[in-house]
Amino acid sequence: MPKIFVTRRIPEAGIRKLEEKGHEVVVSPEDRVLQKKELIEALAGQNYDAVLCLLTDTIDGDVLDAAGKQCKIFANVAVGFDNIDLVAAAERNVMITNTPGVLTNTVAEHTFALMLAAAHRVVEADRFTRAGLYGGWAPMLLLGNDLSGKTVGIVGLGRIGSRVAYHAVKGFDAKVIYYDVARNEQFEQEFGAIYKASVDELLPEADFVSIHVPLLDSTRHLMNAERLRLMKPTAYLVNTSRGPIVDEAALVDALKSGVIRGAALDVFENEPKLASGLAELENVVLTPHIASATEETRSAMSALAADNIIAALEGQTPPNLVKKM
Ligand code: GLV
Repeated sequence: MPKIFVTRRIPEAGIRKLEEKGHEVVVSPEDRVLQKKELIEALAGQNYDAVLCLLTDTIDGDVLDAAGKQCKIFANVAVGFDNIDLVAAAERNVMITNTPGVLTNTVAEHTFALMLAAAHRVVEADRFTRAGLYGGWAPMLLLGNDLSGKTVGIVGLGRIGSRVAYHAVKGFDAKVIYYDVARNEQFEQEFGAIYKASVDELLPEADFVSIHVPLLDSTRHLMNAERLRLMKPTAYLVNTSRGPIVDEAALVDALKSGVIRGAALDVFENEPKLASGLAELENVVLTPHIASATEETRSAMSALAADNIIAALEGQTPPNLVKKM
């Protein structure tokens, strides 16, 4: 009977699927991130056939070696897979999969939750009201900015970036400009979107900049001090992709000194830590990496990771096999 290790408690859907296939599923008894050493200890000598892992698990050559030669697949419950050394996995013939598609709508929704929260100062206003500071309606109280009719700059027009663009155009009559390594002329025609040949060209024109690229060597600190200065002083930056894409210390400086008006972040450079000074700022909205965290979507991600494992253990190519970009 194939044996599968699950590195942390996840929604039942995936576990049920694996068990229905007759697989033995061992879930880590600790409901917390396992440090690399602990993960190695949990895997070593256990002869697992597959591992269902999370974006908080570091999967490198040492961990793959600890899992052993019979382990065919590490199935990440995330669309991103920058926590996994794909070269090390390929060298050991271990398949790596992710969970794209099922979280697209949820992450796009969260992107708008953040965008609107920042522009309408929702969290700041909530703090203000709870603190008993509301003394009655006032014409100049907590003025924010509209999203409707503005220019939304999408950096990375993949599944999630395209869905954000769709909502921006259909829901808010916004103009969409985008940068991606690949131009998508069909998308441009359908949504009236305008392609910018570089991030530097996009930034000065956008009222909202939303980041949707994977974390790669080429995207680390893509939003650095210099690029933040290219944004309009009235603009907002939203990041629901990966924290290290934004130089967080530079962002704190930019928010403090009025280089940009506001920001909203679901991801951080050194999770779970925040850059010094970030939490003290009023003009930033912070959520703890929950953009895909709805009951529906986390169940679907759990089930899709299980599908990937089931396919791999049946000798098929899993539906969401990933390769080094
Ligand atoms: C979440 O960050 C994911 O990559 O799914």
